[in-house]
Amino acid sequence: MPLRLTLPERLLASLNLLPVPLFDAPLAPGITKALLTACEMGVFDALNGQALPLDALAQRLDCQPQGLSLLLNLLISAGYLRYRRGLYRNSRLARRWLTSASPTSIAPYILHSPDIVAIWEHMPEVVRSNRQAIRMPYEEDATRPETQAALARHYAGLAALAMVLGGEIVNRIRVPQNATRLLDVGGSHAAYSILFCRKYPALQATILDIQPGIEAGQRMAKQTGMTSRLSFQCGDIARDDFSTELASSFDVALYFHIAHLLPPELNAAVLAKVARTLKPGGVLVFVDQVTDQTHHSRLASLMVQLMALTMITVGGTCYPFETVKTWLEEAGLRRVRRHRLITPGATLITARK
Ligand SMILES: C[S@@+](CC[C@H](N)C(=O)[O-])C[C@H]1O[C@@H](n2cnc3c(N)ncnc32)[C@H](O)[C@@H]1O
Repeated sequence: MPLRLTLPERLLASLNLLPVPLFDAPLAPGITKALLTACEMGVFDALNGQALPLDALAQRLDCQPQGLSLLLNLLISAGYLRYRRGLYRNSRLARRWLTSASPTSIAPYILHSPDIVAIWEHMPEVVRSNRQAIRMPYEEDATRPETQAALARHYAGLAALAMVLGGEIVNRIRVPQNATRLLDVGGSHAAYSILFCRKYPALQATILDIQPGIEAGQRMAKQTGMTSRLSFQCGDIARDDFSTELASSFDVALYFHIAHLLPPELNAAVLAKVARTLKPGGVLVFVDQVTDQTHHSRLASLMVQLMALTMITVGGTCYPFETVKTWLEEAGLRRVRRHRLITPGATLITARK
């Protein structure tokens, strides 16, 4: 963990003898900025598979050694780098989560994080008014180059997270043996569809999303050599009645991180459409931050509460399990089950038609 207290420090903190709020501000945002800077400069990729002395690393990253050494020292204290006999190397933490060569790299999400931090600028007004302060990124003008760049960062970040969370989800879900078709509602980057298709060789996935999301998915399909297993359908899940055209066509439908974007009545309506696209016996898989499913995990609780506050700012929110269950049952689904995940902050819910 970036904020790693020693045993005596933990003891002093538990006795309330340390000014603990200073860890949250400004120490935590300082570590955040150092991590982001390192990702942007390519520090972890430069050290991937090799340890380097300061001068060689500075030359590789095209920066002044003195300035770089300040950043590297902070990254060592935060646990991202190691230093021994004049050489800097990645820690295990950095190797697994921050190098492009790692299949579990979440560096693209770190690079996307300033876009999330910008949403929090509106926190005081949202807390005062309990009202949406800005629009969702999907509602911005997608012809503007800045919007295109922001959406590209957003989808790349979500795809990276999907590769981590998705592995766990795919292992937990039992897809019917004869399943051939999967619908990924708001599936954009297609990472979840790809993971399901890799596990089930007979499966073909259809990703339903808005145009910028589809473009991200098509890029991912090409990069992963999965174009023949994926098809893309452009549409607005809130307005379009995709359930008529796609009625009773799918064995599996994914509804991942969509609920927090929509008000309750719209979730109920969209989930009813999704349920109609399922064949009898088909499974709907729901993943999102669910407010009462944090299971005494402080990490999960922090993530879910922060997400709820963030989503209110852009016009969404997070919901408790009973609300989700009611939507699913009203959509005609049964056997609504929740499943615990190791990855904190996300809840997996399944229902059958
Ligand atoms: C938070 S992202 C979740 C993406 C993916 N399902 C995941 O879990 O990583 C929300 C997705 O919904 C898509 N989306 C937002 N509004 C939409 C709409 N009205 N119609 C179709 N897709 C929409 C976005 O483009 C994006 O891909």
